[in-house]
Order: sequence, then structure tokens, then C-alpha cells
Amino acid sequence: MSDLAKTARDVRRAVGAAHAERKSIGFVPTLGALHDGHLALFERARQQCGYVVVSIFVNPTQFPPGTDFESYPRDLDGDVKKVEGAGVDLVFSPSVVEIYPPGDHTSVEVTGPLAECLCGPHRPGHFRGVTTVCARLFNIVQPDRAYFGEKDHQQLLIIKQMVRDLRFPLEIVSVPTVREPDGLAMSSRNAYLSSEERRAAVVLPRALFAARDLLNAGERSAAAVLATAREVIDSESLVSLQYLELRDAETLREIHAVEQAAVLALAAHVGPARLIDSILLTPTDY
Ligand code: PAJ
Repeated sequence: MSDLAKTARDVRRAVGAAHAERKSIGFVPTLGALHDGHLALFERARQQCGYVVVSIFVNPTQFPPGTDFESYPRDLDGDVKKVEGAGVDLVFSPSVVEIYPPGDHTSVEVTGPLAECLCGPHRPGHFRGVTTVCARLFNIVQPDRAYFGEKDHQQLLIIKQMVRDLRFPLEIVSVPTVREPDGLAMSSRNAYLSSEERRAAVVLPRALFAARDLLNAGERSAAAVLATAREVIDSESLVSLQYLELRDAETLREIHAVEQAAVLALAAHVGPARLIDSILLTPTDY
């Protein structure tokens, strides 16, 4: 049985008791509406840590105005059932005022090249909201390790930068993207898709895999790789591409030839959903 905590005080007490038993603390922050992608993070935490904490918090500060904060799927009861089977020890499900008390004026922002590309310009304030809530959650939970998905590659890099810069005493562990059988990356936002849109969305992973196949066949030109991926997506009229970019996997600098670890990242609108996906192209792949 997982325990449920609503306040920072309850979390501190439970984590303190686990520490006293010399257990290492693993932490997985989420927005809830849990799926198998989240479960992969819980599983990895379970393997590596003696005590696993999961937060379920639809964080208002990371939703730019006019996006889906209000409509974001919320199902705490369903989520609690899902975490039970995953060996999670504690679920932290705070209210907005527990995380952002009245009169609160502090935010945490990673500036510079990692935040200025890909989703950065398209979702102003988004990453500041993510780093602000993660800094707060890290301070409450005080984990030894925190787990993040590769699916949100830019988020992962920004969190790593924050942890380095602010010297949070914890390790960030990344977990590969979990996909549906047809390749679509699992996402809570897939629930927004009609069955027709859901079928159309499969061009997103197909485009990424086509790019990988081209690299495996020896192509190195970024322009050629991008053109191939773009062609796959353009073949589907229900999918509207916001960006498709090939960048260095660590610095996110633009690259013109794929000679070292790279990330091919995209965002697209499919019906009411804005979906993101990415694939790591490491030299060992080709
Ligand atoms: P959320 O979208 O709920 O994702 C929580 C964690 O699960 C993130 O680290 C994300 O990368 C990972 N994840 C999502 N889909 C995945 C998939 N298909 N395979 C593997 N991992 C996946 O990302 C957030 O929430 C928020 O920004 C958060 C970090 C919780 C801050 O509010």
C-alpha cells in the first residue's frame, strides 16, 4: 500500500523515517494521469532506491496562458491504484497553495542556450515553471535520486543544469521513452485525440524512425535527415508540425552533420493536442 501525503510536513516526516532506516530516497515528479511511461520511471526508482516517492501535481506555473491547465486530465483515484502495483511507498499530492503559498514570489529559471530553443520560444515561461516546481519539490522530498523521461529531452537537460548550478545533492537518472505498440510515445495528452487523430499521430514516431534508418544507412547530413522526417509528417494532413530540429544531444546547439550524439526533436499539433517526441541518435546506433 502506498501512503498518501498532502503536505510538505507529511512528506518530510515519512522521508525522515525512511532515512532513519538508512533507505535511499528515489523521487519521480509527475503531473498525474499516469501511464506506462510513468510506470517505467517508478520501476527504475524501485530498482535503485529503498524508498520511492511520487508526486502528482498539475503545476499551474508551467502552463503558459491559454494552454491546457484547466483541461489537463486529473484522476487521483485511478493514479493511486496504478502506483500501488508499482511499489511506490509515498504519493505526494499537494494543493496549489501548499506548493505556492499566498505571498510567494520566488521562481527558479535556467537561462541560456538550453532554454532558448525547441519548446522554449513556443511555450514562454514553461521551463521556468518546471524548474520552479522541481526545485520546490526537491527541497521538500530531499531525494538521493530523481527520475526523468528521455521523452522530454529538453526538460531533462534543463533539470540537470539546475541541479548542477544550484548544487542540489541528488543524481538525475534518465529513463528511455516508452511507446505504444505502433510507436507513438505515451503521453497523458494522447487522451485528447479522436480515433482518427490518434491514427494520424503515428507519423510522428515514423518520422523519427525514418531519420534513424537514414543515419543507419550512412547519411550524415542534417538537412537530408530533416527532409526525410519532414516528408513523413507532411504526408498527414491532420498533423501540423510546430518544429522539427536536429541538435547536439547535450548542448542543444544546432548541428549540420551528425558526427556525435544528437537529438532529433519535434513538436506538433494533432487536433486539440500539442505532442512532443524526440529520438537520441548516438554514434553506436550507426
Ligand atoms: P509528466 O508529463 O507527467 O511527466 C512526468 C515524467 O514522466 C517526466 O520525467 C516525463 O519525461 C516522463 N514521461 C512522460 N511520458 C513518458 C514516456 N512515454 N516514456 C518515459 N517517460 C515518460 O514532465 C512533467 O510531468 C512535468 O513537467 C514535471 C517534471 C512533473 C514538473 O511538473
